Amino acid sequence: MKKILIALVMLCLSGAALAAPSNYNMEPFRADLRDQESLQRGMAMFVNRCMGCHSMEYQRFARTGEDLGIPEELMEEYLILGNHGINDLMTISMDNDAAEGWFGKAPPDLTLTTRVHGSTWLYNYLRTFYRDDDAIFGVNNAVFVDVGMPHVLEDLQGIVVNTCSREELEERGGFTGTIDPLTGTRSGQCLQVQPGTGSMSPEEFHQAMYDLTNFMTYVGEPSRVQAERIGTFVLIFLAIFTFVAYLLKREYWRDIH
Ligand code: HEC
Repeated sequence: MKKILIALVMLCLSGAALAAPSNYNMEPFRADLRDQESLQRGMAMFVNRCMGCHSMEYQRFARTGEDLGIPEELMEEYLILGNHGINDLMTISMDNDAAEGWFGKAPPDLTLTTRVHGSTWLYNYLRTFYRDDDAIFGVNNAVFVDVGMPHVLEDLQGIVVNTCSREELEERGGFTGTIDPLTGTRSGQCLQVQPGTGSMSPEEFHQAMYDLTNFMTYVGEPSRVQAERIGTFVLIFLAIFTFVAYLLKREYWRDIH
């Protein structure tokens, strides 16, 4: 009994150690694991922009290339950085203790992020970094309050400012203006990108974050791509089989009727 109680307390504590909760009104995300181009772009973004700090240590380059339809030569030339080979796990060489010294918290492994937080959370997390003079790295995040990660994509997205107070951002879920009592639509957003400060337009940036989240969703459950493909064949097979079984049944019963 005591052990169970301790386990329960630990379970609650581990929950508390996750990202600080926020009321931010998240935009929904729907993964499309059949869109290989999106997954490929997402992987390129991950390797170039995230793997400096984050590993995906349960995922292999070879498997990823196979699932995403990327030829081995291209993988080796553009997507496998450092001394890794195609059959290696997607690890990085950053020392965890040193990283903890720099950031206060070592960047976690991201293989299972979409399983832990959900893809919608990740999609919104990536798009809601904003400038905050009171925060350690000068940036904060609307869905991960007091985040310890710098805004590594600011050159792409541009400078984002919070036009509301911090409380307002949290309480009103990022919306300013009014809420239409009939339709529930809200006008205005607290977070505003300063025009001309990023190399991507807002649409391009949203697409890039869609692709990155899509890729990370795939990594969270790599066999889902195959399962969906096989599932289609199974359904087609069942349809054909049902028809054949029906013909057989008619054949058997023909003389009886
Ligand atoms: C300069 C190093 C650095 C880079 C580059 C970086 N991150 Fe991070 N990231 C961190 C640190 C440090 C944390 C821990 C923050 C904390 O817990 O407060 C973190 C946390 C996260 C988390 C939260 C994970 C969790 O479970 O709490 C996600 C998701 C994430 N990063 C995604 C990304 C993505 C996607 C990229 C690439 C676009 C990226 N990061 C690039 C340093 C980095």
